[in-house]
Amino acid sequence: PPRVFSGIQPTGVPHIGNYVGAIRNWVELQKKYDSVLLCIVDLHSITVPQDPQQLRQNIFDMTACLLACGINPERSILFQQSHVAEHAELAWTLGCLCTLPRLQHLPQWREKSGKYKEPGLGLFTYPVLQAADILLYKATDVPVGEDQIHHIELTRHLAKSFNRNYGVVFPSCKVVMGDVPKIRSLRNPMAKMSKSEPNPLSRIELTDSPDDIAEKIKKAVTDSTSEVTYAPDTRPGVSNLIDIHMAFSGLFAEEICEHAYLKALDTGLYKQEVSEVVIEKLRPISDTIRRLQADRSYLEKVLKSGQERAKTLAGATMCEVKQAMGLS
Ligand code: TYM
Repeated sequence: PPRVFSGIQPTGVPHIGNYVGAIRNWVELQKKYDSVLLCIVDLHSITVPQDPQQLRQNIFDMTACLLACGINPERSILFQQSHVAEHAELAWTLGCLCTLPRLQHLPQWREKSGKYKEPGLGLFTYPVLQAADILLYKATDVPVGEDQIHHIELTRHLAKSFNRNYGVVFPSCKVVMGDVPKIRSLRNPMAKMSKSEPNPLSRIELTDSPDDIAEKIKKAVTDSTSEVTYAPDTRPGVSNLIDIHMAFSGLFAEEICEHAYLKALDTGLYKQEVSEVVIEKLRPISDTIRRLQADRSYLEKVLKSGQERAKTLAGATMCEVKQAMGLS
């Protein structure tokens, strides 16, 4: 039977890239699939240094945000990765089937490892853990942004290797993509919007105040042309604003540009329009986030119930895996 699995790192309050690229998609998929698992991947976060207190807070903040965005904890299984030990267990097993060159070629490793003088082993085997997340629940459909596609390919590869070596345990999985293009950094429109970019002006977070949002969009890097036209390759800055506008309004790029042309909006005035749209759409979400953040015991209850339900599924798969491998 079809089953959806996806994960997000507990980076605290997510940015609008996470929201339109992932979370909003998950909310829709809940309506179409009977079985949806959504995992706050704290074990992935610790592949780079984390402050323990901050991490703990971030896990609750992410939980509050996912609920505020419309994740229904009764329909979906929302849980914290480290609380289901089978993730780490299956990751070890799959790691034994994975070669070094497979991981060395992955773009995220090349990118991220360059930032450290002595990158850690966890950073290197990160994609194997991601494969374990998916396979542990025999997920068939994995909604992710395009930056994750190589990791899903690795997952398919490891599932095949396992099945070939030990008999068929894992189904094949596929990427489910939303229709929203990747949202880019407001400071550097060549890069994706990301939590790891040091400059907070580069991203809009779901709890940013209306003033913050307006200021960040106002300062967004564009180019020296004042017309509003959509050309992601040659005009990434203004096109990113149009992408954001599209994602929050449901309008098409042509409609947006036509409207800007008719109202004679230059990029400066157009930025104000984008701000208004984003502010209005985020207002109810950020109000709900704040309310949920104050209710720690409810958030704990949600994660606990998710953990129990996830653990039942995970335990059953690990039994099969151990049996198949001669570990039972
Ligand atoms: P993470 O936490 O970096 O991002 C979560 C999801 O958000 C998408 N995303 C974006 N989409 C559009 N524009 C952006 N600027 C943007 N930034 C992030 C990502 O594509 C992702 O879908 N390795 C994963 C988490 C993970 C996972 C899994 C996902 C761990 N195990 C198993 C699926 C299945 C990650 O770091 O995502």
